[in-house]
Amino acid sequence: MTDTRPLPRVFSSDNTAGTSPEIADAVARAVTGPALPYGADAVTGRVRDRLREIFETDVDVLIVSTGTAANVLSLAALTPPWGSVLCHRDSHINNDECGAPEFYTAGAKLVPLDGRDAKIDPDLLRTAVRHKTGDVHSVEPSVVSVTQATETGAVLTPDELGTLATITRDAGLRLHMDGARFAGAVAALGRTPADLTWRAGVDLLSFGATKNGTMTADAIVVFDRALTPELSFRAKRAGQIAAKNRFHAAQLDAYLTDGLWLRNAAHANSMAARLRHGLNAVPGVEPLGTTDANILFCRLPQPVIEKLLADGFVFYHDRWEPGVVRLVTSFATTEDDVDDLLRAVGDATATGSR
Ligand SMILES: Cc1ncc(COP(=O)(O)O)c(C=O)c1O
Repeated sequence: MTDTRPLPRVFSSDNTAGTSPEIADAVARAVTGPALPYGADAVTGRVRDRLREIFETDVDVLIVSTGTAANVLSLAALTPPWGSVLCHRDSHINNDECGAPEFYTAGAKLVPLDGRDAKIDPDLLRTAVRHKTGDVHSVEPSVVSVTQATETGAVLTPDELGTLATITRDAGLRLHMDGARFAGAVAALGRTPADLTWRAGVDLLSFGATKNGTMTADAIVVFDRALTPELSFRAKRAGQIAAKNRFHAAQLDAYLTDGLWLRNAAHANSMAARLRHGLNAVPGVEPLGTTDANILFCRLPQPVIEKLLADGFVFYHDRWEPGVVRLVTSFATTEDDVDDLLRAVGDATATGSR
């Protein structure tokens, strides 16, 4: 039977994708029979073991239901209430978490710093880590938070991460990584998860998975295991220790099996690369910044934006300067989806929507 449904023309976020079949199957298998609650089940243990293997060290793991929870619980464990979190101005924690970092840290201050491609500029960080330290009239620089891959789709190279980590460590601060798209960074860089985290000095990683295949499960990967007891109490107080945690664990278990997490991310990245390549060839369209992972920013003539929206494409277009749009691919994006969008952009520019 012919499928007459409209094409899925959604490029607003990778969290619009469904789930990988392997993950849906794993959840279905977890449906029957008893299992111990609150993370004491066998599958949660297996997820921890898989992450220990992947990160080549004895990590602890807290499974949570959102990336925001992973970020804010991590930050709360790394800063006192009178501390500050040094982050990029465009970071998710600074813009998109409704004050949860401030709330969960009991009032620590976010200090936004600039830098290209949503990467903190090392010179600005060097100044910020020393700013008014030990001065009771100011907040105390306590933790640096970097995002990998960044909010604009670039990745921090090991050298860039190393530089930021050295500045952080030399000043006695802690290092958090928002890895909502960590898989995309690993796939793009071809470096080991260990090199991109604890070997560089990362204390806590928000290990994102919902954007790349799971339904409702992300995790905090704890490299500094002395933080685990405090994090566990904080997770419970935040309602982030699920009684039926086994269903979250089943998702992550399948996600981490046979490299599914990296296959999904590599696919999402390659769809963004295809999109960027195609957009480069369209007159009047200007791809912006660097697209290493699965987020692409570009400038489009306003009439072209209007036409795409009228044609049913969904994407963010009114959050930045006029004409700047964000296009995001996912593990579920197909070549046909990308080519459909490219065709529509080409048509709209050619027919004078310019
Ligand atoms: C960089 C980044 N961090 C964290 C998150 C986590 O968000 P959520 O709480 O919606 O899972 C997102 C989601 O958009 C993100 O883009």
